[in-house]
Amino acid sequence: MSHSGFMTNTPILAQRYDLYGSVHKGLRRTQCLLLTRLGANDFTDAAATEKLLADMKRLLSMAAAHVEHEDREIHAALHERGIGTGHVDEQHDDHREAFTIIANKIAAVENTKGAARVEAGRGLYLTFAAYIADDFAHMHEEETVLCPILWQNFSDAELQAIEMRIIASIPPEENMAFTRMMLPAMNPAERNALVGGMYRAMPAEVFNAVVEFAIRPSLTEAEFAAVQTGIGLAA
Ligand SMILES: [Fe+2]
Repeated sequence: MSHSGFMTNTPILAQRYDLYGSVHKGLRRTQCLLLTRLGANDFTDAAATEKLLADMKRLLSMAAAHVEHEDREIHAALHERGIGTGHVDEQHDDHREAFTIIANKIAAVENTKGAARVEAGRGLYLTFAAYIADDFAHMHEEETVLCPILWQNFSDAELQAIEMRIIASIPPEENMAFTRMMLPAMNPAERNALVGGMYRAMPAEVFNAVVEFAIRPSLTEAEFAAVQTGIGLAA
């Protein structure tokens, strides 16, 4: 594929349901922050390194879950309508291979000390940078090539039903983790739509738990107040 075609292909949303938008924004933001932290980390500082590696492992498990959600619900729905997903399926297999390589690089940092640990940290940084470069290109393809195919073949109600099946299939703690990852990456209108939808759909005590464990901790005070106002709750 030529770079210019790849980069300029950004089909307009035209009010259609953006199935990938928020979760991909969250993955991009988290991966950029982690790459920056890996580059700036002092690998001779045991406590800082331990915290960073724990955050890396959390991202890897969420990225693996995300790929599996897309395979199980989005690709399966396309297959049911006779549409192949061979290319993106291959990219998902490459991701799974990358997750194992990155997990091994994390273990290499954990199992070394001193200068060897600093070297292992550099290896992890370079490997993770290469992986996210690949993942950014992959997510771009999903949002610019696969998404228009979804729009042609599914109504917005059907796309929302696919998303609801994903949400319903994962435990509450994992939904909270995805909410925490997505919200700070989303713009104010998108946050209001997501949180407003939760507010209208959830029993009050469930919504309050999501506010305390996922929404409030992931936003600044000003951003949180803006969401409260945005969905019609007094700030
Ligand atoms: Fe994907």
